[in-house]
Amino acid sequence: MGNNPMERPEKFPGIKHNEKSIIFTYQNKTVKLELFAPQTIHLSIYGKEPPRKSFAVIESPMVIPEEAVKENDGEVVLKLHTGTFTFNYNNATFLFNPSGKNNPQSLSMESMSVEDTSISALFGIHGARNFYGLGEKTLPYNKYGTSCVMWNSDFPAYSVYHDPLYESIPFLLKADTHGAYGLFMDNPSRSTFDIGKSNPDIIKYQADAGTLEIYLVTGNSPAGVIEAFANLTGKMPMPPIWALGYQQSRWSYYPEERVLKLAKDFREKNIPCDVIYLDIDYMNGYRCFTWSPENFPRPKEMLDKLHADGFKVVTIIDPGIKKDSSYGVYKSGMKEGIFLRKKDGHFYVGQVWPGDCVFPDFLNEKTRDWWGREYGALVRDGVDGFWNDMNEPSVFNNQKKTFPPDVVHKLDDGSLVSHNEVHNVYGMEMARGTREGLGRLEPEKRPFVLTRANYAGGQRFSAMWTGDNFASFAHLKLALEMYLNIGVSGQPFVGSDVGGFVGSPGPELFTRWLELGVFTPLFRTHSVIDSKPREPWAFGEEYEHINRQIIERRYMLLPEIYTAFHNSSQTGLPIIMPLYLSFPEDNKAYDISDEFIFGSKFLVAPVLDSGVTSRSVYLPDGKWFNFYDGKTFNSGWHVVNAPLGMTPIFVKEGSIVFEQNVVPSTATPSDTLIVSIFKSDSSEGSVYFDDGKSTSYRSGEFTSMLVKYRLADGSENIVFEFDGKYHPHYKIIKFRLLKEGKGVTREIFLTDRFGKVSHYTTKPGQTGTLEFAIPFSLSIKKISIK
Ligand code: GLC
Repeated sequence: MGNNPMERPEKFPGIKHNEKSIIFTYQNKTVKLELFAPQTIHLSIYGKEPPRKSFAVIESPMVIPEEAVKENDGEVVLKLHTGTFTFNYNNATFLFNPSGKNNPQSLSMESMSVEDTSISALFGIHGARNFYGLGEKTLPYNKYGTSCVMWNSDFPAYSVYHDPLYESIPFLLKADTHGAYGLFMDNPSRSTFDIGKSNPDIIKYQADAGTLEIYLVTGNSPAGVIEAFANLTGKMPMPPIWALGYQQSRWSYYPEERVLKLAKDFREKNIPCDVIYLDIDYMNGYRCFTWSPENFPRPKEMLDKLHADGFKVVTIIDPGIKKDSSYGVYKSGMKEGIFLRKKDGHFYVGQVWPGDCVFPDFLNEKTRDWWGREYGALVRDGVDGFWNDMNEPSVFNNQKKTFPPDVVHKLDDGSLVSHNEVHNVYGMEMARGTREGLGRLEPEKRPFVLTRANYAGGQRFSAMWTGDNFASFAHLKLALEMYLNIGVSGQPFVGSDVGGFVGSPGPELFTRWLELGVFTPLFRTHSVIDSKPREPWAFGEEYEHINRQIIERRYMLLPEIYTAFHNSSQTGLPIIMPLYLSFPEDNKAYDISDEFIFGSKFLVAPVLDSGVTSRSVYLPDGKWFNFYDGKTFNSGWHVVNAPLGMTPIFVKEGSIVFEQNVVPSTATPSDTLIVSIFKSDSSEGSVYFDDGKSTSYRSGEFTSMLVKYRLADGSENIVFEFDGKYHPHYKIIKFRLLKEGKGVTREIFLTDRFGKVSHYTTKPGQTGTLEFAIPFSLSIKKISIK
């Protein structure tokens, strides 16, 4: 069928069945029902003003299959593979009931109202008590019994209960052993969610403006719901691999000599590091896209030196453009007419770091194009990535600390809207302009953009961090809970300022935060201007040694971390995952917020309290290996040792883990791939490789390697399957087989895909682990161990 809506015969007067929608009028409002492939239902309810194009949704509605629709008296029933959705025409309410199962799986809409200044809906949750997501929120881990506001806000040194913060993702995930669904309320104005707080069986939603846009995302499991939400709002593109390395930031490293010394110290102290950040003081009087002539007189030379030493540099860029008629960016923006104006036609002027500023209207394509071009100068100097800050937007000189409502945006379709109606997408659209601009400037390269403010769908453009947190153990614990909920809200590339932005952590807190950092997608230390030094060596030799080992672990695990990013870019699932995504049948998994699954193989139980060197760990179904010593554990609760620097890490029996030897940065290719087989009779694992920097992986320049270990009739074989033609940089592949007898010597026969057999003998195993190494190539087919 073509794109033109084809009307189907009207069964009920006033109800229009189009190919891709069902439309009718209820109390002077238009109600439109759509289906997104094939388990997400969209209900749009609006008055005279039709809905605006969504900033979040990128998927198109599908043809509603005729056989999926049934009409009873006053009802339309949509049969999905995940359940039945019944919409009642008489009172514009719905009930979603997953097939074969009863409450508390169902969700109903009990009532709704769409007026000019208030949009609202009440949802019945029928006994459900586990709710997650909602993006960057403090509040308890499980959001049931709480209420919160969606309004991007700059709140430095926020408390562990402060709300709202920098990002708004109005996506709520219900997940328990009965099943899961997601509720995405796509509206970028100020909105509130009350999840069983004022009425234990009701979710109350309210928004200040716009239309009621409800997406009910269904699925057969919590992971299935997140994948469907990712199909709707997009997935994270693969970042450059350097963005997965350790990153060092502070407000601010300057002048140039200090930056070069910092880089030298990392290399001399043999602590791996990939990225150095330059905060606002690199600029000339905080003018975006300029360099301070006093502090950075030779930026290109400095960047060349840093690059030669394996560092990348990320600079901050804020939205406020200094009002200064001698400043090129201001003049160019004025000429292009891209700065925001108020209703009365005057430019909106707000104060940020540079003093009086004007602000680009990022919601408009012309502005985003202009913005993207402005990065040209810094890119040509050699800056590698960009950090968009203050984009909630944050301004200093009014009570609300943001743009007033009389600021008017001009959207891509030419329509004019008051800032209040679109406030929550300003930061995301800024990051979009940055990313798209970088893509045009250097089409072969993968851009890296970090943003503070964001909205649903923002994962398509940038990584995000949790803003100006605080140096305390309470914030360390909060950071993990935030990652888990941000991840299930569709944003996998997340991090927090290691050590806490405001304040100065003691050595123990900093080291524990680094330990969590190893598994945090964005691993960046950052701190406020007056904080004490925060480099990994700043706390004395004893800690320097531990901190080095922790950061080295990040580099050793890079093949796993990169593979986890790749998987997430394909599925939309988080990289750092709540236990319930992997173990949806386990009731306990829903309450645990101080452990997580990393990628698909590791269970990590970080230490989040001060003064402790052990902690209790819950291991879900299966047998688990201690990652460090190979000791095995059954499922259940265990108290395990966790001395400083040794985060408890477990690997599921039957997993094969890929590591590499330590390198100073990702610019130095590691030559050895280390394959650890956490043996069961049948173990397997896969790993993904590409060049880590270009977009060539999209045209087939990648390799996925699947390794299978099989023990059958006393004979042990390792079999390799390759998909793709990219040859990774490894020269040697080293195997570690756990659960081997001590002092045993084994014969190894390697068969390649041409049938050639090579023979090796292992050294006697000393520790219960068998180790051997062979040359790495894509032609390895099978290893037999005799
Ligand atoms: C904001 C940012 C912080 C940055 C500072 C100065 O507070 O959140 O990361 O260091 O501004 O640019």
